[in-house]
Formats: sequence, structure tokens, C-alpha cells
Amino acid sequence: MEQKWWHDAVVYQIYPRSFLDSDNDGIGDLNGIISKLDYLKNLGINVLWLSPVYQSPMDDNGYDISDYQAIAKEFGSMEDMQRLLDEANKRDIKIVMDLVVNHTSDEHTWFEQSRSSRDNPYRDYYIWRDAKPDGSAPDDQESIFGGSAWHWDEHTQQYFFHLFSKRQPDLNWENTKVQDEVHAMMNWWIDLGIGGFRLDVIDLIGKEIDKGITGNGPRLHKLLQEMNQKTFGDKDLLTVGETWGATPEIAKLYSAQDRNELSMVFQFEHITLTWENGDKWNPIPLDLKEFKQVLTKWQVELADGGWNSLFWNNHDLPRLVSKYGNDKEYRVESAKMLATCLHFLKGTPYIFQGEEIGMTNVAFENLEQYKDIETQNFYKVRTEAGVTHEHMMDAIHENSRDNARTPMHWDNSENAGFSKGTPWIELNPNFPEINVEEALANPNSIYYHYQDLIKLRKAHPAIVHGSFTPVFEDHDKVFAYVRELNEEKLFVICNFSDEALTLDVPTEYQKQDLTCLINNYQAVTAISETLNLKPYESFAVKL
Ligand code: NOJ
Repeated sequence: MEQKWWHDAVVYQIYPRSFLDSDNDGIGDLNGIISKLDYLKNLGINVLWLSPVYQSPMDDNGYDISDYQAIAKEFGSMEDMQRLLDEANKRDIKIVMDLVVNHTSDEHTWFEQSRSSRDNPYRDYYIWRDAKPDGSAPDDQESIFGGSAWHWDEHTQQYFFHLFSKRQPDLNWENTKVQDEVHAMMNWWIDLGIGGFRLDVIDLIGKEIDKGITGNGPRLHKLLQEMNQKTFGDKDLLTVGETWGATPEIAKLYSAQDRNELSMVFQFEHITLTWENGDKWNPIPLDLKEFKQVLTKWQVELADGGWNSLFWNNHDLPRLVSKYGNDKEYRVESAKMLATCLHFLKGTPYIFQGEEIGMTNVAFENLEQYKDIETQNFYKVRTEAGVTHEHMMDAIHENSRDNARTPMHWDNSENAGFSKGTPWIELNPNFPEINVEEALANPNSIYYHYQDLIKLRKAHPAIVHGSFTPVFEDHDKVFAYVRELNEEKLFVICNFSDEALTLDVPTEYQKQDLTCLINNYQAVTAISETLNLKPYESFAVKL
């Protein structure tokens, strides 16, 4: 496998709306990001993925784009964007843009043209179908945000297709003009000097609507190979696809180098384990053994001929310490344990803003405090179908995307230093205890743990390229593994429970005079036949 710069990169994801507001309109912006580049550099990351900052009516907070070559006014201007690229470049930080091309906003000129008449040249940029004879939708496909995926257009008397909100019509990727327009737009961004693309729900663009196929459609990989060839293929960029339906086999199709598609994918198999039958509004407890099996499978199967990305959370998911750790008594210990567990795996790690200080889920009391369109839609759909308010509020507390979207905590001043205006969404009330200022002042903070993990990744090729072997495979509370490359052998152990545990250690792992690379209680310098682990204890040692 040819070595690439993004193999040992660490990416930080910014949700710009909630990061830092420099002009006090209550919404984070590009100048806010620029002012924190030194903070991010100090953390050690070398890539920033920005959730969408393009012009948008913000029906889905920017994942509904009305102009791909303009910046939303609440985020700043194209000059600010150029300055962000320049300032990031000075610090050797690359900027990865969010490429949302499964759909546009209904305010994009393509859609405005498309819906203006049936014979408009842009009509086929989107997916239009006749009603059934009884006037109902062409079929019963559902939107990922709840309800039918078809919306009736009174003016032209046809339905258009939208897998997300009705204000996010799906582009028709069978139309080569759509492909050409998207490629040209991508090249325009590449020429501006960006470091890559995160491709939003890219597994949906090969869809075959009339056969009811949406994810992993038959034309998907051909479309990606063409995109690669016409845009980033001969540039040294990081490209990561959001691919909910990927299995390891499919992930290799996307990311094997000789296939010329993408650098890597985000797969979600470990995430959906706590969703009953894939339904996030019916959360179930984590089964650690299953979780380990899934993560192990991905480590082993993508060892060659593909590349993993590593993440516990993002702007669509709950906060990791609330989901997989203990956000109360053991918040710091469990946040460090989860970080160690992820950052010693093979793949490119992603840190979501606030993760590095152990931000937690929020539990707003009232539905109105939630701003996310998905949360609002599903509350309505499910309660209308008979689910109780209590059930939905519990599920929202657990899995609403707004858990990740409450403003970043910079300090303990008003609005956590996020904005002097009224924030677009309320803050998590725990910001006086959990904030960047506190983290930077405390040498034992989660922040410095992340900083250490990033340094270790740069210093130990075994973390980036080594083999992966699970240890204590049948244990239901401990995730442990070995990473090995040439002479180097690293042993990582993580207690995922709030119990103290005693383990019988196989002889091969019993060693004296160990070098401890990282720990969240005391450093471990010897392992004998029994190993005592404190709640959420984790460490990595060189065997
Ligand atoms: C996935 C994005 O991560 C999510 O935030 C968005 O709502 C959908 N794609 C639609 O673009």
C-alpha cells in the first residue's frame, strides 16, 4: 500500500454553527474558527473537516445548499473562507469541505428552474414522477427524516423525490449534466486550495428509484471512479465518504487504492448496535462483546486493501462519554479510556468538537428547546403513531443530534464564551465545570490526554500501520488488543465498565519493566499474572 499523508493524520470536525461566534449574532462563524486555529494546532490535529458553510436556507443547518460557491452570510464571506485556508495553511492544517451532492436545497437555482415547468432544461436535474392514478405518491419509500420521500408539486403536477427533508430534493445522478456540474464545482474548490472532501451520504447517489434501491445502487462505484478521475484523482487530497450501508467488503470497494475512488469511509456498524433494529428512537444498551466483535472485524478485514476512519461521535450522534462512558462520576476517566481505545486502532481518527474536553449530552426538558429538523419530525411522526411523549423524550435525550450541536464551551463566562448574543440553541448547563479554559489549566485534563494520543500516533508507526490482534476476546467488560509492527509491540487495555475488575493474564503479556505510553490512573510498569483494573481504567504499554 502506498503511504499517504492522511494515513497518520488526525482530523478534527467543526460544526461551524456551534463552534465560536465572532460577530455576536448567536451563530458560530468562519472568523470564530480562524481565531481558534492555534488552539487546534496545539491539540495536534492537522486536518479540519468543516460541516457545510455554503449558502443555505438552513432547513437542515447547511446540509441543504442553495449555492455551492458562496458562503452563508451567517458564517461569513468567501474572503473569510480564503483567509481561513491561508491561516490554516500557515499552521500546516488542511481544510476538508463537506460535499453534499445527493441533494440540494429547494432554493438552489437548479431546483427553482426544475420546478418551474416540465420542459425546463433543468427538469431532469432532479427526480420527478407522476402520481399514481388515485393521486397518491409513486411508491411508499420513506424519507430518512420521517414521512414519505415524495412531495407533490402543485405547479407542475408531479411528485419530486427527497430522501431527507422536503426542502432537500435529491439530485438525479443519472443525468450526466448533474455529474458535470458537480465535478466543475469540486474543481473550483480544489483550485482554492482545500485539503479534501467529506462526501455526505455518498452511498445514495447510485440509487435506482424505480427499483426501490437507494443505498449502494448499481452505478455507485462507477460514479465515484468518474468523480475521482475528473476531480481529485491526481491531487493529494483526503476524501472520506459517509457510507451508512458499508460492510468491510463494500468499504474496500470504496477505499482500496487501486480502485481510484476514495481515501476512506465512515462506516456505522458499531454505532447502530445501540439502535433496536436500526431505529435510533428505540435505543438499547451497549453489548460490549458485540461492539468488540464489530470493531475487531473492521480492523482485521481492512488490514490491507482499504482504510478505516475511526470515530465515536460526530454532529449527528450523541456525545461519546454519555453514550459509551459515564458522564457523571467517571466522566474524565471514561472519556480518556474511550479516547485511548480509539486512537490506538488502525485508521484515521476523527475528533468531534468538544470531545477533547469531554462535553456531554444535554437533556432539554421541552421539545421546543430542540432545533434539529430530524428530532422535530420524528417526534411528530412517532407520537402521531401512538408512541408516548415520555418514550420520545427519553429517546431524544439519548440520541438527538442536538446533543452534539449545543455550543462549544470555551470558558465559564456568559454563554461559555461562545457568543455575546443569544445562541441559536441553548447551552449545556454544565459549561461552568466543563470548558476549554479549565481544560488548558489542568495538566490532567482530557484535552492533554488527546494531545498525548496524537503525539503517540506520530511517534509510533505500529499505531498507524501495525497488525491488530484482540486479547481477552470473550470478556464482556474489557476491550484489549495488541498492535505490532517490526520490533514494536503495543498492548492496549480498556475497562468499559464502572466496576473494578481482576483479570488472569496470559503468560505472554506478563512483563516487568514496561514502558507505559499512556494511562488514565497511575502509569503501569509491570503486568503480573493478575491484573487489577479500576473503573474505566485504560493504558497502553510497550511490551
Ligand atoms: C448526513 C449529514 O451528516 C446529516 O447531518 C445530514 O442531515 C444528512 N446527511 C443530509 O445531508
